[in-house]
Amino acid sequence: MSRKIVTYPHPVLAGKAAPVMEITDEIRELAAEMAVLMYQDKGIGLAAPQVAESIRLITVDLSGPDKREDLRVFINPVISNLEGEVVSEEGCLSVPGYRSNVTRAERLHLSALDLDGNPVEMDADDLMSICLQHEIDHLDGVLFIDKISKLKRTLYERKLKKWLKQKKED
Ligand code: NI
Repeated sequence: MSRKIVTYPHPVLAGKAAPVMEITDEIRELAAEMAVLMYQDKGIGLAAPQVAESIRLITVDLSGPDKREDLRVFINPVISNLEGEVVSEEGCLSVPGYRSNVTRAERLHLSALDLDGNPVEMDADDLMSICLQHEIDHLDGVLFIDKISKLKRTLYERKLKKWLKQKKED
């Protein structure tokens, strides 16, 4: 397996991902690799741009990170009917070592395709709603640190600079 999870400020994370036009063996392979990487890093969701593939595909497993019982792959996901408001602490495998509260819609409707090309229509709330919004944001080049206050963002950028400098010196 050659892919790995890329981290901020990698430019692919800021791009708008392209729709999947056809579900090929390559797409199925990509989804399988993403699931492995997501589990390895103890994530509950991963978006293709996080492995430097700028296409609209996400993997989600809310039974994780310890269990691996409910893997879902959503292709060309679109959310609608966003309702309510919920604040929760988020992290991201592409933003290591940082977590922050983010405000999101509490409920939504998801339309997508599964790996067999079948349409998926699903109402989601709570953690699934939060996770879908987080992952679909990735497809539009948006990270959860784009949704926090300016002050928090500045502090994070400072911390990151220090880490990157340290890494270079090590
Ligand atoms: Ni993320």
